[in-house]
Amino acid sequence: MKIIYGVSASIAIYKSCEIVRLLQKEGFDIHVVMTQTASQWISPVVFTALSNNPVYVHDTDHGAVMAHIELRENCDLMIVAPASADFISQAAVGSAPNLLSTLLLSFSGPKWIAPSMNPVMFKHPAVQFNLTRLREYGYRILSPETGEALCGDLGEGKMASVEYIVEQICNIRMR
Ligand SMILES: Cc1cc2nc3c(=O)[nH]c(=O)nc-3n(C[C@H](O)[C@H](O)[C@H](O)COP(=O)(O)O)c2cc1C
Repeated sequence: MKIIYGVSASIAIYKSCEIVRLLQKEGFDIHVVMTQTASQWISPVVFTALSNNPVYVHDTDHGAVMAHIELRENCDLMIVAPASADFISQAAVGSAPNLLSTLLLSFSGPKWIAPSMNPVMFKHPAVQFNLTRLREYGYRILSPETGEALCGDLGEGKMASVEYIVEQICNIRMR
């Protein structure tokens, strides 16, 4: 099964390496697409090695004419984990300033979003409004966990666990 795995610039980005590694081991064909900020936090080289596929940041990377059209071919699922507040906002309004947000619009298959942010940010009505909108559009939101954020704030906002996300993706093979 082919998966487009989106990575945006949330502090939970380090967990996405493990998720991609585990999914690749499970036999999924993983194509990582990063936002520009995410690609400055973790080099695309890391995800290239973990996924065994080229990593895209821009629409014309690796000689593509329009990666937002080419990558979606035969894709079974698109997931963005972690999804930053900024990325969620782009998705909710249908804005497409980068390859990852453009792919969300051009791919008509199942789309999952795993929000990851500080609990005060997550509770903000603007973020909640955006998530409600995404649910209405048919996105599946993988709810964040409750706990202590890196900054010490307590509440809901930590990205769903690596194990949960991998398990949910593995489950779609059985359907
Ligand atoms: C160290 C650091 C950690 C951050 N962690 C988060 C986070 O967990 N969630 C979030 O929504 N934004 C976080 N931000 C802010 C985003 O990185 C910022 O909004 C960025 O523009 C998102 O870019 P992207 O959505 O294009 O990847 C963090 C910023 C910094 C400097």
